Amino acid sequence: MPALNADAARDLDTIRDALLGGDREFDRRLDEHFPRLHALFFRLYGDRADGFEALRDTILIAGESWDARAQPLRDRDAERELPSESHADSGTSDTLSVTSGAPKQPWFADNRLVGGVAYVDRYASDLAGMRARIPDLKDLGLGWLHLMPLFRTPEGDDDGGYAVSSYREVDPALGTIADLRQTATELHEAGLSLVLDFVFNHTASDHEWARKAVAGEPGYEDFYLIFPDRELPDRYEQTVREIFPDDHPGSFIQLPDGRWIWSTFHHYQWDLNYANPTVFRAMAGEMLFLANLGVDVLRMDAVAFIWKQLGTPSESLPEAHLLLQAFNAVLAIAAPGVVFLSEAIVHPDEVVDYISTDEARLSYNPLQMALTWEALATRDPRLLRQALERRHTLPDGTAWVNYVRGHDDIGWTFADEDAAELGIDAGAHRRFLNEFYSGRFEGSFARGVLFQENPRTGDARVAGTTASLAGVEARDPAGVQRVVLAHSIAFSTGGVPLIYLGDEVGQLNDYSYADDPERARDSRWVNRPEYPAEAYASRDDERTVAGWLHRWMRRLIEVRQATPELAGTTLLPFDARSPHVLAFQRTADSASALGDGAGDGSDATGSTVLVLANFGDEDAEISAEVLSGFAPIATELITSRVVSLGGGIVLEPRHLAWLRVQPAAAAGPERF
Ligand code: GLC
Ligand code: GLC
Repeated sequence: MPALNADAARDLDTIRDALLGGDREFDRRLDEHFPRLHALFFRLYGDRADGFEALRDTILIAGESWDARAQPLRDRDAERELPSESHADSGTSDTLSVTSGAPKQPWFADNRLVGGVAYVDRYASDLAGMRARIPDLKDLGLGWLHLMPLFRTPEGDDDGGYAVSSYREVDPALGTIADLRQTATELHEAGLSLVLDFVFNHTASDHEWARKAVAGEPGYEDFYLIFPDRELPDRYEQTVREIFPDDHPGSFIQLPDGRWIWSTFHHYQWDLNYANPTVFRAMAGEMLFLANLGVDVLRMDAVAFIWKQLGTPSESLPEAHLLLQAFNAVLAIAAPGVVFLSEAIVHPDEVVDYISTDEARLSYNPLQMALTWEALATRDPRLLRQALERRHTLPDGTAWVNYVRGHDDIGWTFADEDAAELGIDAGAHRRFLNEFYSGRFEGSFARGVLFQENPRTGDARVAGTTASLAGVEARDPAGVQRVVLAHSIAFSTGGVPLIYLGDEVGQLNDYSYADDPERARDSRWVNRPEYPAEAYASRDDERTVAGWLHRWMRRLIEVRQATPELAGTTLLPFDARSPHVLAFQRTADSASALGDGAGDGSDATGSTVLVLANFGDEDAEISAEVLSGFAPIATELITSRVVSLGGGIVLEPRHLAWLRVQPAAAAGPERF
């Protein structure tokens, strides 16, 4: 077997001889992306004898996968494939060809796109049940559905599906692979994209590879990180943080035979060893299998953890990025319509490092999420405003996924230095937020539960549904307004807004997990309730909490879908000179002007939406002077009211306004 050659063209020739295909599309993409993949492999595995073999096999798998890709998915690829750019430091810029044709706007930059996320079992029993709900989802206005992990997992606890025993078998309680394909097809027909997790940092401890690795079967010994004694684990743990200390201390667990294996999360989730190129090849195969089921977006679970190195935190290392880029190149070759969503719940400087056309085009926005809650607790939107000012802009061709809460906990991931600039002590503030959202702080409206409280470090995160955290559970009449306000931020800052399904009817915490021995120690289950049938039953009755919320959430969706200014990521902060008011401007740029137009018949291109949100408990006044840069007449889009800005405006507590404004006529010198 040849070693990886420094010369990509020569290696490609060798590999091409082994390819059966001859498909022109595939060859074009192979020519385009191979140099990038090759350079990445060379950097990751250049000194390993099996590097070339893994690269060759990856390409062969990509070829087979493309051959097997169903025509409707290929059609989707053709609609969605985006030009990629060379990665500045991959060293391949001289060999990269650039896709020709006019620049294309990504499909996910459409203001009409609104997402939802749900567990199949909890929301609809099984995949057939989920399909039966498609008309409801469509009716709500969704164009994106993230189904939580649904593959086969171990008996008993499985981290809500994040311990995958086989990437090629659906959990039998939910259906079959054929069911999943059918679900993808029906979603596509209804105009929804399918999002599934690619849980690629680890497998379940009963995955076939894991069993073989532990048994020392040749070819598999090196799939995981197994150590004969504590020597290396102890050294690693000096610099690696604990993720689930409630499950086990540190990052390793002991095997029955006394050896130690790396498991960042639960004891039954074993980290894959990506320093072994065969693991990359194997996981690339699983990834393409998922892609061929009809998945449109792969949520790259726990991406920060995929590369380990002694003496480092083993989070967000440079190699983690190279790996993600390599997976991206494989996808670009064999499933070019599919994009990655990065799940990096880390320091904001690190979150953005995963976002590029070569890496993940989409990323959760954990900072905006956490700071929305921060502003609701403090009534002070300064940190959120600061984040929007300096941490919001993304490269062209990429976007945020903005959420109010997910299936996980809320961690206060803002940067200490950002807080310090505003005179806020980050440590003390995080402690306050944990107290506040666990309801311990006097006067708190929130009913949350702490997650992974670590007495050693004082660290903790918060779990709870949107409604429970916002005050609905505590019967604070303002709770429902906070639910709407929080969603209005996710809906107006750009990118893909995401609803945790059930939150639109105000589902509350589910405390039953505490009685389930398998779940009692994982308080995130409090925010994963079953389909709230009662709330949905009263969603059309506006006298109920569910009905009131549902009406407002639908309105937010409708208006967002009629407002091209709200897509894209370009955002201009605006100083409303009112301490509790968050204000910013959104302008329709070419990236976002994809919608049907403004809905009210006006042409949105070049116009601006001024977003105002009052986080305070009192009326907030925005003076005429502050608004004098705009023409005196504006339209408030949510209420469809024409408003006059000439006398200033008053925002009631927790109210918001999306004002379509025009610049004031230029006050230049009069000419005679
Ligand atoms: C991600 C998931 C989380 C899971 C972890 C391990 O962070 O969102 O639910 O526990 O990865 O897979
Ligand atoms: C899971 C955990 C979260 C952790 C993250 C890392 O989401 O719940 O607390 O920070 O994994 O990806």
